Amino acid sequence: MSLVVTATPESIARAAAVLRDGGIVGLPTETVYGLAADATNGVAVAKVFAAKGRPAINPLIVHIADMETAERLASFTDAARDLATALWPGPLSIILKRRADSGISDLAMAGLSTIALRMPAHDVARAVIAASGKPIAAPSANASGTLSPTSASHVAESLGDKVDLILAAGSAGVGLESTVIDMTGDVPVILRPGAVTPEDIERVLGIKPAIDSGHHDQPKSPGQLLRHYAPGTKLRLNATDKKEDEAYLAFGPTMLTRGKVDPAVKNLSPNGDLNEAAANLFGYLHALDKGGYAAIAVSPIPDQGLGLAINDRLRRAVGAQN
Ligand code: TXA
Ligand code: MG
Repeated sequence: MSLVVTATPESIARAAAVLRDGGIVGLPTETVYGLAADATNGVAVAKVFAAKGRPAINPLIVHIADMETAERLASFTDAARDLATALWPGPLSIILKRRADSGISDLAMAGLSTIALRMPAHDVARAVIAASGKPIAAPSANASGTLSPTSASHVAESLGDKVDLILAAGSAGVGLESTVIDMTGDVPVILRPGAVTPEDIERVLGIKPAIDSGHHDQPKSPGQLLRHYAPGTKLRLNATDKKEDEAYLAFGPTMLTRGKVDPAVKNLSPNGDLNEAAANLFGYLHALDKGGYAAIAVSPIPDQGLGLAINDRLRRAVGAQN
């Protein structure tokens, strides 16, 4: 039987059975593809860390399909509940105090007393979680430190036979990992920018969240410490031109991409749409990374809305290369 199967009611039921039996499954979410395991099963969670080569200090996000389960796992403050009500299902992971009797494996939480919860908006992810009857730990389904996968074939290339099954359902719509917000302190703090923007948070809570995406010495999220999101080819950011031996990743209207079919040049969004750019970012980086170029020159991206998240991932990629 093939490792990659199209998501259907039958394959979704099979994936849920694999998860209940302690196996690990690559599955689509609206952000990126995830590598799923039963979060209450330490052996299954250990398989996820092993398959990714992920350092055990880095906790996993726990995915749930309903609010009842979320409330059983963590203590929601009123503000956190407001966020969940307004923005779930969706690309938002909320860090909360974990309940003592949550039953979540300590390995999944890297020993922390907090837990990151997310209710994904993707029908296939929701169906698998619901059918498994378990809270599902799911990091991005890529080898640790490499680009996150936005398609089932990315998952197969990165993790191959280390997983028991990969469900395929096209390209991940958002294309960037979820926004991570820490709701355990006095002020909400965004630890990872994503498709849920600071403005979205402010609209719900009536206050501006702080933003701390860890581009400094004392990151708050273990994941911020680690090598991240790096293609093998060097990136040159804020580039307005392309050198002969470089690839070019453009954004917005530019003479460089107009009317040309050149495998070395890709435009994240010819019209300058940040949503489209986010959805294309990892796929285009994956593709250009394979071309053997001296570097990938990247156009300036506006630092607002989803542009914050795109620039965060690009800066991390460069940081990991230095
Ligand atoms: O969009 C997503 O969030 C995807 C899909 C599959 O849902 N998942 C994902 O997981 O990106 P991962 O493991 O690649 O990233 C999780 C991030 C890491 O940076 C981790 O350190 C942070 O969330 N994190 C998880 N639990 C945390 C906690 N209790 N406190 C602080 N940071 C936490
Ligand atoms: Mg990841």
